Amino acid sequence: MATKGLVTTEILAALTAIVGESYVFFDKENLTHYGHDETEKLLYLPEVVVKPRTSQEIASIMQLCNQHIIPVTPRGGGTGLSGGALPQLGGVLLSTERLNTIIEIDERNLQVTTEPGVITEVLQDAVKEKGLFYPPDPSSKGSCFIGGNIAENSGGPKAVKYGVVKDYVLNLEVVLPTGDIIWTGANVLKNVTGYNLTQLMVGSEGTLGIVTKIVLKLIPLPKFDLLMLVPFNDLEKASEAVSAIFRAGFTPSALELIEIDALMIVSKMVDSHAVPVTPDIAAHLIIEVDGNNMDVLMSEMEQIAELMVTYDGGEVFFADDAQQKAELWKLRRRAAEAVKSVGYTIEEDTVVPRAHLPALIKGVKALGKEYDFHAVCYGHAGDGNLHVRIHKEGIPNSFGNAEMNKALRALFELVYSLGGTISGEHGIGLIQKSYMDIVFKEANLNLMRGIKKVFDPNNILNAGKIFDSIA
Ligand code: LAC
Ligand code: ZN
Repeated sequence: MATKGLVTTEILAALTAIVGESYVFFDKENLTHYGHDETEKLLYLPEVVVKPRTSQEIASIMQLCNQHIIPVTPRGGGTGLSGGALPQLGGVLLSTERLNTIIEIDERNLQVTTEPGVITEVLQDAVKEKGLFYPPDPSSKGSCFIGGNIAENSGGPKAVKYGVVKDYVLNLEVVLPTGDIIWTGANVLKNVTGYNLTQLMVGSEGTLGIVTKIVLKLIPLPKFDLLMLVPFNDLEKASEAVSAIFRAGFTPSALELIEIDALMIVSKMVDSHAVPVTPDIAAHLIIEVDGNNMDVLMSEMEQIAELMVTYDGGEVFFADDAQQKAELWKLRRRAAEAVKSVGYTIEEDTVVPRAHLPALIKGVKALGKEYDFHAVCYGHAGDGNLHVRIHKEGIPNSFGNAEMNKALRALFELVYSLGGTISGEHGIGLIQKSYMDIVFKEANLNLMRGIKKVFDPNNILNAGKIFDSIA
């Protein structure tokens, strides 16, 4: 970034003229609230928080900040786990929370056009009422924003059958760092018209532009689902069973793994007794199938359950009704929050080719011994995407901690050696960027820096995320 400009009283006045007095904040409480997200225990205060309502207002803010070289950090629901929304350079924190309208559900074309500040679950429920389905379902779906999901290319349990956010994004309205407003593509299912700017924006972590309108593909809502929980006495055996399910020809609509420590901590936090837990269990697989033919689903579930026995799976617990299903999903979805609350503050988002999951889990445990940390694992086993939550006495944050840095480097080197990479769905943001050299050559990083420079010549938008900028 060229010399960073300050948020002076003149800048504050200009911001107020754009969004109105009621939507500019610089009191301590607001600065603190918008100074952190769900990433570890990190806090960086912005100089000012602004809450625009329209693309045009965002364009005016970007023009102003570009002219005065003031850092802008865009923020959605604030549920990120890689520090993407942390304003570590101060400057302007731009919240998209007031762009919260679902503009149109197009039932003829199976599409929805929405603003970015809509909560993911609100959008899902709205299309569900029309018999339609938007599958990506991060654990935070009750509070994260669809715009943040675009920024991080989020996944969630359904990704194993239905894909991640990128598989649903057709077209985006974007405010560029210079203040120009563009549409990236067209509302069509096929498109080879120049470079794919739509997909470049997806997963770009708010570094290339601010998404202000989103067109998503929808699919018909499956009529039924079945859910079961399978206990295993051996963690590695549980992870071996995962790839066997796909090799046997099944594609579950969710295939999650949760280690026993995580399940016990979350059961306690939400005061749930839904899952029978005995001391010899090491981990559970949560397996869901969905579709339109109940007989087919029942038969699939039985066959998968039989297969699990050959991997030493224990007595299967079937979720009988909607309430039991909800209870089980609550336990899984709130695992991250629960383990964080008892000291597992550092979360890694490792991903390997599915069949290498047992080697990854074994390696994680070995590294824990070597580097003296305790790790609890859970995540989207069907995608080979394992969240590794780490508790190390006296170290709440990985970012900036040399000891943790060494341990995480070893973890990511292991992931890379298994053919995997360092983030499956949480993004690189602030806290993972120093490990990018493990998976990319300098040539890759220079290409990315070049793209960043084209979009954001003054490096004002979410600067210092994904990679360090070159001067
Ligand atoms: C989960 C989030 C943390 O899977 O990605 O729970
Ligand atoms: Zn996850």
